[in-house]
Parts: sequence; C-alpha cells; structure tokens
Amino acid sequence: MTFVALEKLMFLEDGYRREFVINGVPLLLLQVEGQPKLIRNQCPHRGHALADGDLNGTVLRCPQHGWSFDVLSGQCRLPGPGPCLVHYPLVFDGNRIGVDSETITV
Ligand code: FES
Repeated sequence: MTFVALEKLMFLEDGYRREFVINGVPLLLLQVEGQPKLIRNQCPHRGHALADGDLNGTVLRCPQHGWSFDVLSGQCRLPGPGPCLVHYPLVFDGNRIGVDSETITV
C-alpha cells in the first residue's frame, strides 16, 4: 500500500470539498452528512468536473447538463437509477485521511 495523505481530519466538515489529481485521475474529496467520500471528479455523462456542482442533501448535481448523483451511494438520480459515481476507499492514518494510491487507476 502506498498511502497518500489528502487532508487532516480536523479540517473535514459537511460541505468540505477539495480536488486532487493522483496517478492522472481527477478526484474530489468531500464530506456529506458526516461521511467523507472520495469520488472521481468527472461526470459519467461527458466528463465535466463535479467539484462545482450544487449539493442538495446527499445529491450532487453536475453543473454542465444537470445529471445528479447520490454522493453516499454513488447511484444516479438523473437521468435514471443505476451505478454512476466512482468511489475510492479512504484510508485513515492517525489524524489524516488519505488513499492508497495503488487503488487509483485510470
Ligand atoms: S457532463 Fe455532467 S451532466 Fe453532462
């Protein structure tokens, strides 16, 4: 495992968002309802960055054409139900949260 620290736990709060690129993959770390999530920062529709999308509860709306996703489950809301978002497992190390960079592949 190759741990890459992303953030100190003390900075995470609901509404937190920060973009990263690891192994050439755009990522978005965000926290929703007390749960930090790391997702691919690319809309599954046409690849627009999701970092600036509106968040309503747990639902993130792509700013480009309006597809929306449940951040916690990864399921599409619009255009229809089904798996959409790519999640990556987060790793906790002391007071830091991060990821095993070996799990990030293009
Ligand atoms: S690129 Fe996100 S809805 Fe089209």
